[in-house]
Amino acid sequence: MKKNILITGGSGFIGSNLANYLAKKKFKVIVIDDLSVGDKRNLNKNRNIKFLKKNINQINSIKIKEKIDCCIHLAAKAQILINTKDENQYFEDNVTGLQKTLNFCKKKGIKKFIFASSASVYGDTKNKKVTENMILSPLHYYAFSKYIGEKIIKKYCKLNKMNFYILRLFNIYGEKSNAVVAKFIAQYLQNKTITIYGNGKQSRDFVHVDDVIDIINKLIVKNLTSNIFNVGSSKSTKINQLKSYISNSHKSIKLDKRFDDIEKSIADISKAKKILKWSPKKKIENGVKDMIEKDYLRLTKIKLDTIESQKKLIKSFNKKK
Ligand SMILES: NC(=O)c1ccc[n+]([C@@H]2O[C@H](COP(=O)([O-])OP(=O)(O)OC[C@H]3O[C@@H](n4cnc5c(N)ncnc54)[C@H](O)[C@@H]3O)[C@@H](O)[C@H]2O)c1
Repeated sequence: MKKNILITGGSGFIGSNLANYLAKKKFKVIVIDDLSVGDKRNLNKNRNIKFLKKNINQINSIKIKEKIDCCIHLAAKAQILINTKDENQYFEDNVTGLQKTLNFCKKKGIKKFIFASSASVYGDTKNKKVTENMILSPLHYYAFSKYIGEKIIKKYCKLNKMNFYILRLFNIYGEKSNAVVAKFIAQYLQNKTITIYGNGKQSRDFVHVDDVIDIINKLIVKNLTSNIFNVGSSKSTKINQLKSYISNSHKSIKLDKRFDDIEKSIADISKAKKILKWSPKKKIENGVKDMIEKDYLRLTKIKLDTIESQKKLIKSFNKKK
């Protein structure tokens, strides 16, 4: 029998791609999202998807009759470049909201918990490929909230005999995303200047959302002991290179560097390869082309900040260090 899956934050970028995929594969999917960022229209009209508009801090007021096999916890305050006054929101959503979701799972007898953590828990790893057993050193509130989240999950799941899988996601891109890849493509398609923070020599590990769905799918169907996995491509891409995959000739400008922007972030994924037989399939060069084709309409319409407002944002962000 197909499993019932609960996805928190399921109307956002990763969540909606995942919900649509699982529903197509005939899983019963229950999505909880407060729509603070996500959009219900991201979800396909499919009778295998049930949507509940709810903040995870009120998750215990939800009545679900179905027996749930697995909770995939994606709901979080996920933006990094924001006013540090929002510190409380990170803890409310990413720590308290997480604890309430775990408590809900305990009460509902949900035995499998998959958590979207972040590569940012590692901090500045000085150009090294990071393995899951490295010492964590989060640099900002978002990263810190994920770090605390991981600790809570480990203890809570052990105490309540639940299996957990912590995924340290690197830079995820693909249809419906809004981060750097989407921003550059949108600037290109809207004939605006591509804005690069810093000299563009900093590199990131980009992994396509389809590959993230693939690893989550493996965790849903396999019965494994609790574990932590890096989810990246294990390939390093400089921001200048990313720009060239979109267009070599399109106009670009270098703005100030964000003070906490690390030089390099790259995952060692040998653990997921060995235990889950998972490896990412889509190369960033091709993923970018795919996105231009498949996400064209949305990207030509998304609202972009002007160069002036971006300069101001970085300046005020850097002042708060
Ligand atoms: N996209 C990435 O590159 C990336 C990298 C590392 C980690 N992650 C993590 O993966 C998860 C999903 O990321 P995403 O890129 O899809 O982000 P997203 O912002 O598109 O999705 C998050 C969803 O959670 C919902 N949400 C936020 N607070 C909520 C609350 N209190 N109650 C209910 N719903 C709430 C939002 O409305 C949104 O739909 C997040 O936990 C994020 O921290 C993402």
